Amino acid sequence: MREAAAAEKLPADGVAIPAHVAIIMDGNGRWAAARGLPRIAGHRAGAQAVRRTIEAAIRQNVGWLTLYAFSSENWRRPLPEVIDLTGLLRHYVRSEVAELHESGVRMRFIGDRSRFDADLQADLRAAERKTEGNTKLNLIVALSYGSRAEIAAAARRLAEEARAGRLDPASITEDNFGGGLDTIGIPDPDLILRTSGEQRLSNFLLWQGAYAELLFLDVLWPDFGQAHFAEALAEFARRERRFGARPG
Ligand code: FPP
Repeated sequence: MREAAAAEKLPADGVAIPAHVAIIMDGNGRWAAARGLPRIAGHRAGAQAVRRTIEAAIRQNVGWLTLYAFSSENWRRPLPEVIDLTGLLRHYVRSEVAELHESGVRMRFIGDRSRFDADLQADLRAAERKTEGNTKLNLIVALSYGSRAEIAAAARRLAEEARAGRLDPASITEDNFGGGLDTIGIPDPDLILRTSGEQRLSNFLLWQGAYAELLFLDVLWPDFGQAHFAEALAEFARRERRFGARPG
């Protein structure tokens, strides 16, 4: 799709807009390989796509945007790539937070941040604190995130509470279990989209995405832009959502 043609398109009145869009940003490596460039060049171009996507989400009045930037499995990549990726994240958080704050973006990070260097952890905390009063867009960045580990950690905490006699196991429900996840206070995603043509969830928001619409786009993440975001919202609006119930 041509960027310029659809970039200005906003949803018509009455069209369903997803409150929460979550994105698996895939294809940076293939984008770089196709150009004979190192993988880090793909990740840098991916960071530009992140900027465009945040702008698009603000323009389209999407309240919550979650980006899968670093999975718990990504630690298994070759060390130079892990160093490049964490360096890029550090640079991004330091250089973008002022502008994101100006734009009214609230930043939150989910995942096991204890695995990152102390200086990056401090930057993440500082970005969260600086932007915590903002309401224009809630930006959640999943870092060192894996859904199964998140669910297992929540179960472990509940088991410890029960063993200490502070919790009756019978009182555990779907609602209060969800409150033990990293995403406490964040609405479930309405739309999960993945770029690069792969059709997998790769351990991303498995609990939270139980009723999400899934959309797999045949575009590499660094090429993703406002037009693709608008197209994803248009596809969402076309789908009828029933939450398992029969149509009335
Ligand atoms: C998947 O592409 C992408 C990642 C593992 C990293 C995502 C990171 C960014 C988009 C850049 C920085 C993010 C922020 C929030 C500043 P891949 O390397 O798996 O691509 P491939 O499947 O084509 O090899």
